[in-house]
Amino acid sequence: MADAAVHGHDHEDNRGFFTRWFMSTNHKDIGILYLLTGGLAGFISVAFTVYMRMELMEPGVQYMCMEGARLTAAAVGDCTPNGHLWNVLITGHGILMMFFVVIPALFGGFGNYFMPLQIGAPDMAFPRMNNLSYWMYVAGTTMAVLSVVTPGGNGQAGSGVGWVLYPPLSVNEGGMSMDFAIFAVHLSGASSILGAINMITTFLNMRTPGMTLFKVPLFSWSIFVTSWLIL
Ligand code: HEM
Repeated sequence: MADAAVHGHDHEDNRGFFTRWFMSTNHKDIGILYLLTGGLAGFISVAFTVYMRMELMEPGVQYMCMEGARLTAAAVGDCTPNGHLWNVLITGHGILMMFFVVIPALFGGFGNYFMPLQIGAPDMAFPRMNNLSYWMYVAGTTMAVLSVVTPGGNGQAGSGVGWVLYPPLSVNEGGMSMDFAIFAVHLSGASSILGAINMITTFLNMRTPGMTLFKVPLFSWSIFVTSWLIL
């Protein structure tokens, strides 16, 4: 065991920062990257809701004004309510939380880190595809954030359509922002599908000798079942 630890990681210590974190094929490093990126997306998403709750703190509209989004409360009469801004923030919050925080952190983050460890696999079945999944997720996160600030279809920035992006709203608000939002979810989906293929293959083929399906810990089973649902 100690021997494996020494030999298994000796050569990895020589990797530079860029190689280790940007070209990673190591399931633990990729898991950590997922968690850190998910945390960052979480902070951005929470920032949106802090602003929303600030707006709800007092009756009337003080912050989300047609005259511009304010950081301090506007005096009475100085603010024409901007409902679109609220809708944009709720959309950004919903998309970021669901697709770029919860799914990547629980599945990509903890799944990548713990599943191979629990079943005794040396790494994921397709380590380079694992890296591809991660970077597609980063690209998706970037586009989701961009969709909040890019021009929407109605002359203002952002899309106010809710996180499910259903028509007719998503059609009425067509524009650069809507395109970013929809493509962000596509990228997240493609990333999850590749991740799921990786998890299923690892789970089925790379269990250590003696690790029969009945001995696999429940967490790894949950990742396996979730992978099929994602597919
Ligand atoms: C600090 C933590 C959070 C705060 C303060 C917060 C606040 C809010 C607020 C104010 C709304 C709008 C409710 C409305 O007007 O109907 C909302 C919607 C929503 N939140 Fe959160 N939230 C938080 C965390 C989360 C998390 C962790 C998730 C995901 C697991 C989440 C998912 C959603 C979704 C999906 C919506 C609906 C979006 C839509 O209708 O398009 N939120 N949240």
